[in-house]
Amino acid sequence: MSAEADARREEVLAALVEAGPAGVSGEALAAALGCSRAAIHRHVAALRRSGIPIAGEPDGYRIDPEADPVVPALVCPRLRPPLAGPVIWAAETASTNDDLTALAREGAPEGTVVGADRQSAGRGRRGRPWLATRGHALLVSVLLRPPIAPVEAGLLPIVVAVGAAEALGPDARIVWPNDLLIGDRKVAGILCEMSADQERVGWAVAGIGVNVRSAPALDDARWSPGALSDRGPAPSRADLLVDLLATLGRRYEEWTAEGPGPILAAFAARDALAGRRATVSLPEGEVAGLCAGTDELGRLRLRTDAGERLLSAGEVVRVAP
Ligand code: BTN
Repeated sequence: MSAEADARREEVLAALVEAGPAGVSGEALAAALGCSRAAIHRHVAALRRSGIPIAGEPDGYRIDPEADPVVPALVCPRLRPPLAGPVIWAAETASTNDDLTALAREGAPEGTVVGADRQSAGRGRRGRPWLATRGHALLVSVLLRPPIAPVEAGLLPIVVAVGAAEALGPDARIVWPNDLLIGDRKVAGILCEMSADQERVGWAVAGIGVNVRSAPALDDARWSPGALSDRGPAPSRADLLVDLLATLGRRYEEWTAEGPGPILAAFAARDALAGRRATVSLPEGEVAGLCAGTDELGRLRLRTDAGERLLSAGEVVRVAP
């Protein structure tokens, strides 16, 4: 499909979202968008093929209230720097991180967002797959170009975790480095990937998957999966995306302007491991100890029987209650 047809299809979708449950007639849509009713019919058919349930004429076109579309044309005007788009949305892609990495290499600006209703090869940390039900999760990747030295980049996953947790609510907690829990269920995961030379970070892609309305099985034996809908009515994915880019943008800006202090304090307030005994899997084996937050480079402080260790890689595999 041409870029022009894509843009027109998005205008139709935006008009349908704005019309809400009342719907809108094909005639009114055609008049508003300056095209024929037949063209509207074709765009609606294409939207339906992409998975958006739209009831048809004669009562007017209406989006099923259960559908939760994300429409860039409606999201972008609500965004503020430093994370102000563009937002590129696909009905389906392999992995939004892969798509955004390709754009980053082509020089896309900071704040570019790629999202999808479904991923056929969504990636989690440590090579695990990331599963999500079509349209029930916020699956997005955000492009950052932090003006920092590579050695400071260890804190980036923590910055993203804090920003994302703030969008999920005051009850969201973080398991180092960036699993997001509500209660004892994992509701969101983060996969940060970056490219750096010896002096600076060229780009970083922060991939964030939030289970909004259902919690598919996690390919991760450590946590039970959860969703935002477990605790009450879930936000729309569009509202959540706007909030997420605002909270993440604020923390990111604060970090690049003021250094690690404020972010470490915010992390500490949501640290699900603080003061608990955990076992961490490392390439050379497992190590257990008492968790005591992170240092300025984002390393986990683990107080073991043999003294404090600072862990920059590794995965928390068990936590004492
Ligand atoms: C994890 O907890 O293992 C990290 C999961 C990260 C999933 C998100 S969904 C959007 C982005 N695209 C991907 O392929 N992965 C991340």
